[in-house]
Amino acid sequence: MLVDYSALSKTIAALTEGETDEVALMATVVCELHHADDRFDWTGFYRVVAPDLLKIGPYQGGHGCLVIPFDKGVCGAAARAGEAQIVADVEAFPGHIACSSSTRSEIVLPVWEKAGALIGVLDIDSDRPDAFDQADAEALAVILEMVFAR
Ligand code: SME
Repeated sequence: MLVDYSALSKTIAALTEGETDEVALMATVVCELHHADDRFDWTGFYRVVAPDLLKIGPYQGGHGCLVIPFDKGVCGAAARAGEAQIVADVEAFPGHIACSSSTRSEIVLPVWEKAGALIGVLDIDSDRPDAFDQADAEALAVILEMVFAR
């Protein structure tokens, strides 16, 4: 099963209409995303809880590390740069944090709120190598903006 991003976007828009609570929004986005594509083996948010500090939010899949400083991991790189990180081979990413030994590739996107502040990152892991591409990054960015920057 491969995600149909436009259908998924409509579903998420309908499910989150009128909702402003970040945790409720994050939990709903994670649930819909995680079940939309066989590539997605871990799907979750890390939230900015202090300057340069991420802490785990709603997620689906196996165990997720609880705390990630901005100077660590793929999540830290996405938060620091404010740009999507597409990692074809996590073994080749310096400082990758392995919450699961089965992860082979990963995509992480920054999450912005309406006024422009970084509120966290969306992290999706796959047990398949090179599972993500630019089209995924662009489609996911549209969904994140629709939900968190409205
Ligand atoms: N691999 C991430 C850490 C989170 S786990 O994937 C859930 C990283 O390197 O930042």
